[in-house]
Amino acid sequence: MDKLVIQGGIRLSGEIRIAGAKNSALPIMAATLLTSDVVTVGNLPHLYDITTMLELLGCMGVESVVGEKMNVEINSSTIRDFNAPYELVKTMRASILVLGPMLSHYGQAEVALPGGCAIGSRPVNLHLAALKKMGADITVENGYIKASTKGKRLKGAHILMDIVTVTGTENVMMAATLADGQTIIENAAREPEVVDLAHCLIAMGADISGEGTATITINGVKRLHGCTYFVMPDRIETGTYLIAAAATRGRIKVKDTRPGILEAVLSKLEEAGAEISLDETSITLDMHGQRPKAVSLTTAPYPAFPTDMQAQFTALNAVADGSGSITETVFENRFMHVHEMNRMGADLRVEGNTVIFRGVNNLKGAPVMATDLRASASLIIAGLVSQNETSVDRIYHIDRGYECIEEKLQLLGAKIRRLPS
Ligand code: EPU
Repeated sequence: MDKLVIQGGIRLSGEIRIAGAKNSALPIMAATLLTSDVVTVGNLPHLYDITTMLELLGCMGVESVVGEKMNVEINSSTIRDFNAPYELVKTMRASILVLGPMLSHYGQAEVALPGGCAIGSRPVNLHLAALKKMGADITVENGYIKASTKGKRLKGAHILMDIVTVTGTENVMMAATLADGQTIIENAAREPEVVDLAHCLIAMGADISGEGTATITINGVKRLHGCTYFVMPDRIETGTYLIAAAATRGRIKVKDTRPGILEAVLSKLEEAGAEISLDETSITLDMHGQRPKAVSLTTAPYPAFPTDMQAQFTALNAVADGSGSITETVFENRFMHVHEMNRMGADLRVEGNTVIFRGVNNLKGAPVMATDLRASASLIIAGLVSQNETSVDRIYHIDRGYECIEEKLQLLGAKIRRLPS
């Protein structure tokens, strides 16, 4: 397994470009199953998860042509197999996103039931309950979700989500576009990626309103058509580099991003002492060489502070001036990075779903192990603020969600290199 080796202690400084959003690209690629026309998806990030989604669509018979600029033309008219196999689902839980579109367009779908993962048990009961309410016949047998519409169209329904779920909202919204009648999703996820998916579906001819609010209304249409759609910038990648620069007391300009969808993170960075200036597509952060100040935070669904940036902010707080607490309310086990950071000299204590921290002056490099995507990013940040060498093992997690991370960090002056296994 590849490792990343980091010589810490360097202030990041420079400019980088942000890639397309992974968590937008994945549902948008799944949405291409809703039409037999060609859909062209642009601004795809160059990531393992994107390749896995292409592989998943490919094994069902869907044809894709990848262009030079990370554009892909997806043609699902050639689909012949309505099965998402365990071999792929186990490597990427977001495979569940093919369930709603396949079921709604083709009346049948078999998708391996995703298991738990490093950050929590992550059930999909709300996806299944909503699709059942829309008339689907769903059973779980031999580790597979077997779903059918019994030859009919799904029918519109009033769906109240017990918990805010991002992919759950996306699955139901996609299924509802071709259902008979109106679907209303209450307590819907408001994440920008849900809005981006809705905009792509609207470009395909769907009738959707209320995206970005807690109530989404979808009037089913008989068919959707092809379109060309460019995925929005990745707000989590954006935030990760901003936090890395702040932790190292540096200065950074992130370009090709969208500042308006990062409010919670930007305000926490300002609280940490960063000077932030914005224009339409870029964010500049400057710590003026100062040590960050400790910032307490609580994660929650959008527009609150994102769980996908909790680990990275933990790394910043580990070297901040002061003490505080970080509470995780979205996933039950998202503190695996804490124990690794403590091995690097951090002073972090887990109490239930909260980390109590006291910032230290410096971390000390150590061999550490990544347990999931965002934890990997946080350990790289910890490595960047360490006095000597840190090696981060199991780096395959990072390649699922960060495009060319070592090249981008090198552009910012970091000493980081990949050691192939
Ligand atoms: N939940 C249920 N039942 C369900 C669905 C969700 O109990 O049927 C619970 C989950 O266990 C969790 C909470 O609801 O406690 C929220 O989970 P959600 O369904 O929103 O998560 P997700 O859709 O599986 C997406 C992102 C995650 C991100 C979360 C939260 C994608 C492909 N994944 O996951 O991204 O952390 O929303 O914002 O969009 C990442 O990129 O590193 C990542 C993990």
